[in-house]
Amino acid sequence: MSSNTSAHPIAAAGEGPGLTLYGGDGTGRRVTVRDLARAKQAGERWPMLTAYDAMIASVFDDAGIPVLLVGDSAGNNHLGYENTVPVTMDQLVMLAGAVVRGTRRALIVADLPFGAYQESPEQALRNGTRFLKEAGVGAVKLEGGQRSAHQVEALVAAGVPVMAHLGLTPQSVHTFGGYRVQGRDEESAEQLIADAKTMQAAGAFAVVLECVPEELAARVTDLLEIPTIGIGAGARCDAQVLVWTDMAGMTTGHTPKFVKQYVDLRGALGDAAKAFAGDVVGGAYPGPEHAFH
Ligand code: KIV
Repeated sequence: MSSNTSAHPIAAAGEGPGLTLYGGDGTGRRVTVRDLARAKQAGERWPMLTAYDAMIASVFDDAGIPVLLVGDSAGNNHLGYENTVPVTMDQLVMLAGAVVRGTRRALIVADLPFGAYQESPEQALRNGTRFLKEAGVGAVKLEGGQRSAHQVEALVAAGVPVMAHLGLTPQSVHTFGGYRVQGRDEESAEQLIADAKTMQAAGAFAVVLECVPEELAARVTDLLEIPTIGIGAGARCDAQVLVWTDMAGMTTGHTPKFVKQYVDLRGALGDAAKAFAGDVVGGAYPGPEHAFH
């Protein structure tokens, strides 16, 4: 514990009010869940991206992204699966370790994959602690509201910070029958609000809201003391997350309405590969400057 006697818990953590979450540094330490709480109190919005390997993670860390998620979206964006369901703990522990090693400042959050926490609080604790011990992450994420409350309580009580995930929870794709906007009718909207309050009461430090109407996300954001992180949840959340391959134009096929593509990396890489191939076939590469003598 800090010996600082300030009444403000985040001020006591050492990051002064002048330092912003996005891009801020100067503390020489990683972003923590307490910094995210301070940002909510200060009304500071912040970005989060997914990352699945050390090199890409280092790019985002250098860009000042304060929170990186080793999402189970690695399933369809990195490992070649159709969805997130087949992803295993062993796979995500390996990817999360790489992301931690590739970064210095970002808070790294690892997703508990399908089947790694639903069984019991004990199972959640066993796998959550694996992420902290073997990969070195600072927090874990899991899907579900009331159905996952005991898991969140067990993890938080043991010292594992938990990010909750509500709305369109991709691990339940087979129950939903596809990827649809959630919380459109009054009953499901009230259920989502109840779930969000339950997650906060269970000790979650933040809640991802995926594919819910903007008005509902705004209500949840106003009701909660912990930050909301939107993905397809409109502009009123405290933070926004995108899957990096969507944001950078690497993904093929259907692009969800909420995605904004900031660069055509797939096109640029494809062009680079074709230029390399043309040089090899035509004899322009390697040139004299690339040869050893
Ligand atoms: O796995 C993931 O990428 C996620 C984000 C969509 C929040 O859970």
